[in-house]
Amino acid sequence: MGNTVKPLKDTLSFELFGIEFKNPVWTASGCFSYGLEVAENLYDISQLGAVVVKGLSYKPREGNPPQRIVETPCGMLNSIGLQNPGVNYFVNNILPELKKYDTVIVANVFGEDEEEYIKVTQVLDRAEGVHALELNVSCPNVKKGGIAFGSDPDTLYSLVKKIREHTGKPVLVKLSPNVTDILETAAASVEGGADGLVLINTLLGMAIDVEKEEPIIAMKTGGLSGPAILPVAVRMIFQVYEKYGSSVPIIGVGGITTAHDALQHILAGAVAVQIGTANFYDPYSPLKVIKGLEEHIKKKGYSHYLELVGKAHKLKIKMEG
Ligand code: SIN
Repeated sequence: MGNTVKPLKDTLSFELFGIEFKNPVWTASGCFSYGLEVAENLYDISQLGAVVVKGLSYKPREGNPPQRIVETPCGMLNSIGLQNPGVNYFVNNILPELKKYDTVIVANVFGEDEEEYIKVTQVLDRAEGVHALELNVSCPNVKKGGIAFGSDPDTLYSLVKKIREHTGKPVLVKLSPNVTDILETAAASVEGGADGLVLINTLLGMAIDVEKEEPIIAMKTGGLSGPAILPVAVRMIFQVYEKYGSSVPIIGVGGITTAHDALQHILAGAVAVQIGTANFYDPYSPLKVIKGLEEHIKKKGYSHYLELVGKAHKLKIKMEG
């Protein structure tokens, strides 16, 4: 498989894990559904580097009760609770449509316990058209699974190791920022056999309705995303790249709306980026980011965007930790 990234002929195309990506701009799980609404109504999703689908569990999930979303300063809180139709429904009814598009499909894998994570992985491992798995060990909105796996390094190591044994497809681990030291969970994932890391999922937050004098979200707390979390994502990517360099591919996610934001992730060490919350207010934002990256590469005289990955580390001032 190989986790060395290789440039291909266009300024934004590359190969990673033996998969060819047209560009480093992916859509983030939970913010683009299964891609088909946009494909059928707005634009050809073959233009995207990859589509990461909403988290898939073994059994269908109804998710959390409303209210599940609230807008916050420069961001959004969500507590969806991983609503999804189940992995078998996805494979039988959605994937056949989705794989007609010429883009990479990454499936986000969720389980309430180790057994469920493995069952979902087994189904996706057999599913033709799913190129890679993104392990969701960071959802802050569920009582079982999600962040419960991603906040304890030993539990995380054991889960990643088991998943690794059940699939030959690339395994990316999507980490939570709701930890004291991101390097500990990054290390647990890498030692468990992850092919790459996705940084970061949402930050746990809360909003209160001052008239009703109660939390707005029914589950009280939710995951904060959007521009507000950009600097946190950039810092965590920088820290992890500082430790592993290019030996562990990092996919950056968190607060990206523009090419300028994406470039911060890339300069910190991300080899690709995911656009999440921006899709809700501008579904064309991934295409705008692709165009903006192309323009930036041209303006700066680079031949390929990979020349920029981790470049902000040239000032070798070591971060603590
Ligand atoms: C949710 O469905 O509650 C959000 C998913 C996530 O944060 O991973």
